[in-house]
Formats: sequence, structure tokens, C-alpha cells
Amino acid sequence: MKKSIAASILAVVVGVVLISWDADTQMGYGPGYGRGQGMMGGGTGWGAGSFRSNGERIYFTSTSERGTVITYAGGPASSGWMMMGGQLACVSCHGPDGRGGRHSMGMMQVMDAKDIRWKVLQPEFDAEKFRLAVVKGQDPDGTQLKPDMPRWNIGKADLADLIAFLKTLP
Ligand code: HEC
Repeated sequence: MKKSIAASILAVVVGVVLISWDADTQMGYGPGYGRGQGMMGGGTGWGAGSFRSNGERIYFTSTSERGTVITYAGGPASSGWMMMGGQLACVSCHGPDGRGGRHSMGMMQVMDAKDIRWKVLQPEFDAEKFRLAVVKGQDPDGTQLKPDMPRWNIGKADLADLIAFLKTLP
């Protein structure tokens, strides 16, 4: 009995550690992004001056220099993120370069996060459609985004900063 509890705790830990990019997505880690820092939401390593813009800060940390609180509901709850007390940010799934990709989340789960560089979202998304997708999970084609994409509680000014950052991604 004890052994199986230990094994399941281990499985959760391994599951979280395995949240990783597939090798073929060729993720690069951009400036200010430290492997093992932001990903686990440990709150370490992010100095106030680490980001060039508020949009970049939101993308990487889901905190805003405005002091507004950004929260989310949903997301891949079974992956162990919640249990580990981790805080998700856009970067956790869409990657430091915005290109998304397939993640293996351990425990046989795979998630496909979309490429959300602004130029790729064009012409489908304008600011309002982007807001509806991020806040309500509403796809411009009228369908709902998969529950792996969290529903974010984020204000319009912070969204505008986020869009400005997505526009800088090559
Ligand atoms: C836990 C993982 C996760 C996090 C964190 C996350 N997303 Fe997503 N996102 C996804 C997945 C998966 C999809 C694709 C959903 C689908 O196919 O229905 C998606 C889709 C999207 C889309 C729709 C793209 C399209 O072409 O339809 C937008 C826009 C988006 N995310 C923006 C964001 C923003 C902005 C943030 C940060 C505030 C964020 N996401 C955080 C997983 C995530």
C-alpha cells in the first residue's frame, strides 16, 4: 500500500517534469526565459527588469505590471500542474517563441497548443476575437477551444499589451 502511494506521487512528479516540448518542435528559449524557472511557476528567477514590455511579462508569468490580477480556469487539470501549485502562463504551452507545439504531459496525454504569433493568427483574429478566445475559449469559427486551453480572467489593457508582444514574435 505504502509503495503504491509513493509510486503515484512519483508519477505525478514525473508527469509534471515531463511537460516538455517534443524534440522536433525545436523550441528555443528566448531572452529572459530560464528553463526550470518560469515553467514550474516557482516564482524564482524573474527580476522586475527581466522583460522588455508588460505584454512579454504577462506572456511569461501571467502577472501584469499594472498590478491587475490575472487568473485562469480550466486547463489540463489532470496533469499535476494544479497539485503542484504551479501557475500557468501562455509560455507554458505556446512556448517562448509563440509557436506552440505538441506537448507530452506524461501519463499518455498529449496536447497540441496552437501557434499564436500574431502574424499567424491573421486574418482570422482581431483584438476582439482574440479576447473572446482567451477569455471565453471561443474560436472565431464558432466552436469552443479545447479545455486544454485555459479560460483567462484578464482585462482589455493587459490583453492589448499581450497582443503588442505577440506582434513582436518573428
Ligand atoms: C495549459 C496550456 C495552455 C496555456 C497555459 C495557454 N494556452 Fe492557449 N491554447 C492551448 C491549446 C491546447 C490551444 C488549442 C485549443 C484547440 O485546439 O481547441 C490553445 C489555443 C489558443 C488560441 C487559439 C488559437 C487558434 O488559432 O485558434 C489562442 C488565441 C490562445 N491559445 C492564446 C493563449 C494566451 C494569450 C495564453 C496566455 C494568457 C494561452 N493561450 C495560454 C493551450 C494553452
